[in-house]
Amino acid sequence: MRAIILAGGSGSRLYPLSKVSSKQLQAVYDKPMIYYPLTVLIAAGIREFCIITTPHDRPRFEALLGDGTQWGIAIEYRTQPKPEGIGQAFLIAEDFVAGEHVVLMLGDNIFFGGDAFPRAISEFRSGAAIFAYQVKHPQQYGVVEFDRDGKAISIEEKPQEPRSNFAVPGVYIYDDRVVDIAKTIRPSTRGELEITDINRAYLQLGDLHVRRLNRGFVWLDAGTSSTLQEASAYIETVERRQGVKLGCPEEAALVRGFLSLERFREVLAHIPACEYRDYLVEVAAEAERHRR
Ligand code: G1P
Repeated sequence: MRAIILAGGSGSRLYPLSKVSSKQLQAVYDKPMIYYPLTVLIAAGIREFCIITTPHDRPRFEALLGDGTQWGIAIEYRTQPKPEGIGQAFLIAEDFVAGEHVVLMLGDNIFFGGDAFPRAISEFRSGAAIFAYQVKHPQQYGVVEFDRDGKAISIEEKPQEPRSNFAVPGVYIYDDRVVDIAKTIRPSTRGELEITDINRAYLQLGDLHVRRLNRGFVWLDAGTSSTLQEASAYIETVERRQGVKLGCPEEAALVRGFLSLERFREVLAHIPACEYRDYLVEVAAEAERHRR
């Protein structure tokens, strides 16, 4: 399984923060936003990444994340010249998908808790696997409707009169047919290749699998100034209470075995003195204790 993280878009809802810096590079508490989706995917065992950015922001992402070797992963970059929809990711990254299964994650979606994603990724065989999460205001999202047996029967993008309270978060797992399907869909009235239309195509093929995320699972959207602040406050609260960090790719890579403890220490040596480094020193000491 390969992963695409979509970090394009103008970030207009974050203006003026987004005037000189991409939305997905903004701080969510103590780390850049993109660290969170990246960490979730590393924790799920993904090693091959394609990050899609605007042409303007690409150098900043490359400066931040490099080619991924520091985390035992491989990162490639592609650009999206204009924000023409999430579905466009598969056209831009066609050669990256190259006949493999792929998970697409939106760079401004923040998730914590449970093993729903690692399980869905390891159990995935074919078709499309998406998720459903209960929200109060489903109008802002893709909305999925279930029949009495819990089977998905419809999916709509930002409906004014939603048929359920189940929103579709920005994580989508597909087989390699997704590239051909993306080529067949047409732009919506807002001029975008909608991810919901791709999901609807899989639904019509009888191959859309929707997993409900339970209540304890956390999905935050950090796309507006107020939700960005809410996400930061949430992460600060959890990190202070538990003494662990969320969205730490080095730690996820160590736990997954993408980095040996020796390599982890080498990576650490290149990080300047800061709270983040102090945390990684603790992580290394803990791993050392477990090794004995
Ligand atoms: C997009 C998708 C929508 C999905 C949401 C998740 O919305 O179009 O189906 O529920 O991401 O964050 P947008 O970011 O375009 O508002």
